[in-house]
Amino acid sequence: MDAPIGLAFFFGPALIIGIMMLMSGFNTVSAIMVLVLVLCGLKYMHTSIIGKYRIMKSIVNSIHLKKDSKILDAGCGHGAFMLQFNRQAAKISEIIGIDIWSNKDQGSNSIAATQKIMDNSNLADKVKLKTANILDMPFNDNEFDLIVSSLVLHNIKPFEKRKVALVNIARVQKQKGQLVIMDIGYETSKYVRILKELGYQNVNIVNAGYNGWWGTPMVPTFVITATK
Ligand SMILES: C[S@@+](CC[C@H](N)C(=O)[O-])C[C@H]1O[C@@H](n2cnc3c(N)ncnc32)[C@H](O)[C@@H]1O
Repeated sequence: MDAPIGLAFFFGPALIIGIMMLMSGFNTVSAIMVLVLVLCGLKYMHTSIIGKYRIMKSIVNSIHLKKDSKILDAGCGHGAFMLQFNRQAAKISEIIGIDIWSNKDQGSNSIAATQKIMDNSNLADKVKLKTANILDMPFNDNEFDLIVSSLVLHNIKPFEKRKVALVNIARVQKQKGQLVIMDIGYETSKYVRILKELGYQNVNIVNAGYNGWWGTPMVPTFVITATK
C-alpha cells in the first residue's frame, strides 16, 4: 500500500464520526459524511492496489524499447513499474531499481522484499536493486535509455530538492533517452518547465484520470513523458 498513512485521512474521521453517532444517535448528515469518507478511503486503496498498475501498464504499452535498453526505476518501492516490463525482457539489457526503502512512503518496504518479488518475475536475471537516493545517484552520466519514476518525487521536500532530483535524473539519462514521471498532485505541472530547462524535448503532461485518484479527484496522478 502506498503511503499507508493516507488511509488514516479518510478512515480516521469516518471512525470518529461513526463512534459519535453510536453515542449520540443516528443523524443523516453524519451518516452521509461517514459514507463519503469510507468511499474515499476505498478509492485510495483501489488506486494503490489496482489503478496505478493500470496506468503503468498503459504507459509501458506505449513505449517503444530499443534493443539492449538499460532502464532505471528511480524510487522503485516494490517494483510495480519494473514488473510491467515483464513481457519486454528480451529487449532489456539491465533494469536497475533504486530506493531508500521508506516505510512511510510504502508499506513493508525493503530491498529484501522487492528482491523476492523480482526473483519470481521474467526479469529476475536483468534486475539489480540498490539502496540509493535520487538526490545522489551512484551512476555515471548518460547511462540510461529509459528512466521511470512513479509516485516518488512528491515525497521529496521542500520543492527545491525535487529540482535537484530532476537534475540528477537528467544527468544519468542518455541523449535521446526517454523519461516517464508519474506523480501526485498539481505541483507535478511545475516539473514540465524544469525538464524543458534541463534540455528535455516533447515534454507532455496528462492527468491519468479515475485510476489515479488518491481518494478524490482533487488528488490526481499526472504522467509526464519527455525525450532528452
Ligand atoms: C509511494 S512509493 C512508490 C513506489 C513505486 N515507485 C510504485 O509506484 O509502486 C514511493 C517510493 O519512493 C521512495 N523514495 C522516497 N524518496 C526517495 C528518494 N529521495 N530517493 C529514492 N527513493 C525515494 C520510497 O522509499 C518509496 O519506496
